Amino acid sequence: MSSVNAMAPDSLSIQDQRTGKNYTVPVEGDHIRAAQLEQIVKTEGAPGLVSYDPGLINTAICKSTITYIDGEKGILRYRGYPIEELAEKKSYLEVAYLLIHGELPSPSDLAEWQHNITFHTLIHENLKVFMSGFRYDAHPMGILVGTLGALSTFYPDAKNVKDTASRRLQIYRLIAKIPTIAAFAYRHSQGWAYIDPSNDLSYAENFLSITFRPSISSRYEVHPELARALDVLFVLHADHEQNCSTSAMRAVGSSLADPFSCAAAAAAALYGPLHGGANEAVVRMLEEIGSVDKIPAIIQEVKAGKRRLMGFGHRVYRNYDPRAKIIKRMADKVFEITGMNPLLHVALELERIALSDEYFISRHLYPNVDFYSGIIYQSMGFPTDMFPVLFAIPRMSGWLAQWQEGVTDPEQRIVRPKQVYLGPGERHLP
Ligand code: CMC
Repeated sequence: MSSVNAMAPDSLSIQDQRTGKNYTVPVEGDHIRAAQLEQIVKTEGAPGLVSYDPGLINTAICKSTITYIDGEKGILRYRGYPIEELAEKKSYLEVAYLLIHGELPSPSDLAEWQHNITFHTLIHENLKVFMSGFRYDAHPMGILVGTLGALSTFYPDAKNVKDTASRRLQIYRLIAKIPTIAAFAYRHSQGWAYIDPSNDLSYAENFLSITFRPSISSRYEVHPELARALDVLFVLHADHEQNCSTSAMRAVGSSLADPFSCAAAAAAALYGPLHGGANEAVVRMLEEIGSVDKIPAIIQEVKAGKRRLMGFGHRVYRNYDPRAKIIKRMADKVFEITGMNPLLHVALELERIALSDEYFISRHLYPNVDFYSGIIYQSMGFPTDMFPVLFAIPRMSGWLAQWQEGVTDPEQRIVRPKQVYLGPGERHLP
């Protein structure tokens, strides 16, 4: 590049006012390559210009064909299909196949996929021993993070990340085993014996069964409508392009670490209250508010910058979160079966007041996916601690689709961002 070429099509002309020099940077589609900025220097031999972007709010870290979001219009699509259509017509496992393979499965592809997922749900007996070592009150998300990392030691073949067959096998294992680990994390907190998965149940039914069935000898009928509701929640959470946990998955994957280690890192990122931990934080906040008459005081605290309204706001969606719309409608169906959750009244009133307040309107703060999901999970009988784990189960397919895309991308290099150094210059010990 460099030199003056203001007429070049599909290019960006930059004039550096510090030096008076002109540069022409090629524009590819709707992006420039940040490395092109490196040649812009103040003086000969000085470090090149970098773009400073805390939170990576305007930096694309990859090219992807998986998930499309238009935050202004409230659009979310997996491989081109609108989330509303997938949530209504497809099961979570079909959607997971779509994310991983790029196309929806044929009936025979689906049968094979379901078979392979179902027959990898068991976990090694030693992993059960490992899990039983956690303290009785361990947070299930901490258990999940630790156990996903431990899984890496059970499958050393997973290090062959450049091998297609090995990747496929690890994908089966991770999608299959995460509900088992999640259920065991819950059982651990209850002091219940672990129950092995049932191969004759669907993905969501099996998860509900091995979570809530008190013992191997007791009967537990999964309500089909609740299983379907959970499956829809899984579809809605399956992927969300380059969010914090997915970026962690890709970043760790860029060092060619095995996918179990990458998934542990992604789950750790999801644990935080600004990400997957938000659904848990929402319910704790609604419980703290308790009744609608306390809402105005909370809103004042939020507006004074003393706290955030959990379940509100999103980095990408500036008008509404399409997942929140689907979840809100689904909540009514769930409550018909489980009975009304009293927190719903507080949530609805909080939403009403916030959406008519200038503070929230001017900042484009709307309910996000986590605002209502926690109330549904609670009505289904899950303790608050389990909510981020319920987010992690379906997000595994998104993480894996993104990881696979990253490790097979010829342009992908190890993630190694730059910094703007503000520390002391060279100094010496006395
Ligand atoms: N309550 C009150 N004020 C808020 C909130 C909120 N939930 N979110 C953002 N703001 C304000 C913030 O104080 C700032 O105001 P000002 O310009 O006066 O300083 C402005 O809105 C912009 O906030 P930001 O922190 O720059 O926005 P961000 O894009 O960096 O953060 C977010 C996005 C989701 C982390 C944030 O909205 C938030 O903390 N929300 C609550 C946590 C939550 O619900 N997270 C779940 C996200 S959806 C599921 C997922 O993807 O994990």
